[in-house]
Amino acid sequence: MGFVFASCASDYVAHVKEDVSRDLPALRLAYSRPGFLTFKIDDDVPPEVPRPSPWARVWGSSLGRVRRPDDALALLPADARRLHVWGLAELDGDEAPVAQAETTLREAAPERFEAEPRARAGELVVDVIVAADGAWLVGLHRHGPGRSPFPGGDLPVEVPADAPSRAFAKIEQAIAWADLPVAGGHVAVEIGSAPGGAAYALARRGVSVWGVDPGAMAPHVLAYVGPGGARVHHVQETLAGVRWEMLPRAVDWLLLDVNLAPPVALHGLTRLVPAWRKRLRGAVLTLKMNDAIVRRGVATWLERVAALGFRDVLVTHLPANHAELCVIARR
Ligand SMILES: C[S@@+](CC[C@H](N)C(=O)[O-])C[C@H]1O[C@@H](n2cnc3c(N)ncnc32)[C@H](O)[C@@H]1O
Repeated sequence: MGFVFASCASDYVAHVKEDVSRDLPALRLAYSRPGFLTFKIDDDVPPEVPRPSPWARVWGSSLGRVRRPDDALALLPADARRLHVWGLAELDGDEAPVAQAETTLREAAPERFEAEPRARAGELVVDVIVAADGAWLVGLHRHGPGRSPFPGGDLPVEVPADAPSRAFAKIEQAIAWADLPVAGGHVAVEIGSAPGGAAYALARRGVSVWGVDPGAMAPHVLAYVGPGGARVHHVQETLAGVRWEMLPRAVDWLLLDVNLAPPVALHGLTRLVPAWRKRLRGAVLTLKMNDAIVRRGVATWLERVAALGFRDVLVTHLPANHAELCVIARR
C-alpha cells in the first residue's frame, strides 16, 4: 500500500479529484486541503508515479506526515539529495515557516542536501510541504520533462511593470516549463493577442509577432522595437475572419489565447495551420476550461492538437493560468 500526493492551484482541488475519480479509480482520496491532496492505493508508489491530472503541479509518492527533522530524514532514501521545501496554500504566502523548516532540516543533516533548489533531469527530489499547524508532509518525486525544477512547481518569471497583461507570465512560463527553443529572428502568430502581454514578451526576445485580435493592443507594445528589430504587428480581425494572406507565410510559433471554447478555437486553427507546416516549430495554446464538459474532453482536445500535425503534445496548468490549461505542442 502507498500514497500519492499532488499539489495544484488552491482553487482547483475539485478538478484533480474529478480527473482521478474518472481516470484512476484505484486511487482513493485520503487527505485534501486547498491546493493539495493525497490518495491511497493498494500498490507501492514509486517517485516516478504518473501525473494524476493535468491540473497537478507537483506529484509523487507521499511518505508521511512528521513534525521533527529526524523523522523526516528517516523516511528518505540516501540518493535523494535535492530538497524542495514549500508551503500549503493555507499559509497564505507566509514564507517564514517554510524558510524555518528548510533551515531546521539542513541544520539537522549538514551536507545531506544539495544547496541549490533547481532540480536536474533524473534526480530524486524530496518535497517537504509545510502545513499551517507546523506539520511537514514528506514526499518524493523524480524530476524530468513536464515538471517544474523549482519547489512547489513554481516557475519564477520577472514581469516588467509595463507588461499589459498576465499573458506575459503565461508565455514565459510555458517556454521555461517545456524548454522551448524560442530564439531571436523567429516569427510568431498569436490568435487572441490583445492587449499584448505575450506578444511583448516574445518581442523582447527578438521574435516578430503578428497578433490577431478584434480588440485593441496596448500602444506601447505596438511601438516597441526589440532585439534585431523585432516588432509586434496587429491584425484587427477575429479567428474566423482572418485570412492567411494577412499573416506571414513562414511562422515558427503559433500562440492561441482566445475566450472561445476549445472545439471552436481548435477548429479555427485547422484552417490556418496547413499554410505554415513547412517551418512551424511549435504551438502554445491556452484552452479555456470553464465548464465540466470541456474539462472532461481534455484527451479529445489534445488529439485534435496532434491532428494539426504536432508530434509532442503536452498539457499543464501553469502558475499564471487561471481556469485554463496550457497545451504545448512541438513538431
Ligand atoms: C485572454 S485575452 C488575450 C491576452 C493576450 N494573449 C495577451 O497576451 O495580452 C483573450 C483575447 O481573445 C480575444 N478574442 C475573443 N474572441 C476572439 C476571436 N474570435 N478571434 C480572435 N480573438 C478573440 C479577445 O478580444 C481578448 O483580447
